[in-house]
Amino acid sequence: MLRRLKFLEGVGKTAVISSVMITLLSAVPTISVAADVAAGKAKASVTCAMCHGPLGQSMQPNVPNLSGQPEVYTVEQLRNYRSGKRSHEVMSLMAKPLTDSEIDNLAAWYASLKVDVAEK
Ligand code: HEC
Repeated sequence: MLRRLKFLEGVGKTAVISSVMITLLSAVPTISVAADVAAGKAKASVTCAMCHGPLGQSMQPNVPNLSGQPEVYTVEQLRNYRSGKRSHEVMSLMAKPLTDSEIDNLAAWYASLKVDVAEK
């Protein structure tokens, strides 16, 4: 009887350990597929460059530069325009049809551009 209980204790521990391991493993975030900079560039040149410039440096005073912005920032702004959390008559329309991966690619493209700053 005692022996059997000890055996069961062992089984219990194993079960607890393996369920802890499964929990830990499932807590590891799924590695997202890296954003496609080339696809972002292609999309930007057709849809965004007319206002934000071919290299993300705006040519209009009321349009912001995008090149060199951290990827996370651009992703967040585009998602906010798309959801309505941030609203602008032009950008809300521009962001509406973008998919998550298009947003990731566009943000990766603008983040990949090097910007140098200097005092005038
Ligand atoms: C017709 C002109 C126009 C086009 C086309 C356009 N934008 Fe914009 N974009 C603007 C203007 C104007 C703003 C400033 C909006 C505001 O004040 O919120 C802006 C703002 C942004 C911002 C926020 C920047 C910041 O500093 O917070 C991002 C990101 C952005 N645009 C990305 C894009 C992308 C990506 C595309 C192409 C899919 C695009 N835009 C197409 C005019 C345009």
